[in-house]
Amino acid sequence: MDSLLIKINEAQHYIESKLSEKPKIGLVLGSGLGILADAIESPVYIQYDEIPHFPISTVQGHAGRFVVGNLCGKTVIAMQGRFHYYEGYSMQAITFPVRVMKAIGVEHLILTNAAGGVNKSFKAGDLMLITDHINLTGASPLIGKNEDELGPRFPDASNIYDKTFNKRVLEEASRLGIDLKEGVYFYNTGPAYETPAEVKLAGILGGDAVGMSTAPEALVAAHASLKVTGISCITNMAAGIQVTALNHKEVVETANLVKKTFIELVKKIVEIA
Ligand code: HPA
Repeated sequence: MDSLLIKINEAQHYIESKLSEKPKIGLVLGSGLGILADAIESPVYIQYDEIPHFPISTVQGHAGRFVVGNLCGKTVIAMQGRFHYYEGYSMQAITFPVRVMKAIGVEHLILTNAAGGVNKSFKAGDLMLITDHINLTGASPLIGKNEDELGPRFPDASNIYDKTFNKRVLEEASRLGIDLKEGVYFYNTGPAYETPAEVKLAGILGGDAVGMSTAPEALVAAHASLKVTGISCITNMAAGIQVTALNHKEVVETANLVKKTFIELVKKIVEIA
């Protein structure tokens, strides 16, 4: 077996040794959104640094553990804290947990993040359902030798964020009275927030929100034939649209303000997944 497959296998077996039930739904909780893990009942915690071959998160406000338990009557595995390319890890390393979740039996991955609003009809505190993403950074987690066991060399990317499921999410959000926006997530590596000129470009190119995560994980999930749903919490308007300087504290604070609606929405997504 190739070394990536061996590493996935070892991480999978370690996690499985801690669990009594197999989760079919995976959640990745973004900046300031880790609070959702508190809604998980009968939680089993698995620290990333216990798991063979896992990188260790360095960013402030990211806990760095799996929380496995019951949410809306379903077993879920949530990542409280994720890995970012800007931390210095490779694209393969930041998406390794997605490979492992697939290996333990996850079929549907729900990715969440904090993002800056580019679409001028958005405001800080809005939630956006991701319809697609743009990654022009030149970095892809699929560059390198393809493991055919994990997915095809040239995977289709025309429906990464499942359109049929997204329709249902919009219907359910409307039923709950949540004004869920829709849009394209424009990925930048960070760690600097974008310049106003970059934000303008992102808008011209079709981006509705900018952020520093999600796109690599979503691509690997699609490569692994997982169903993907993405939710961005618009924590601020992006640089140049918002006149004041951006900072991480503000991002976390806004995410905190919308946590009730965010939790309600994600619970509904888990329920219908
Ligand atoms: N840009 C990139 N990432 C972000 C932003 C932003 O404005 N806000 C929260 N995460």
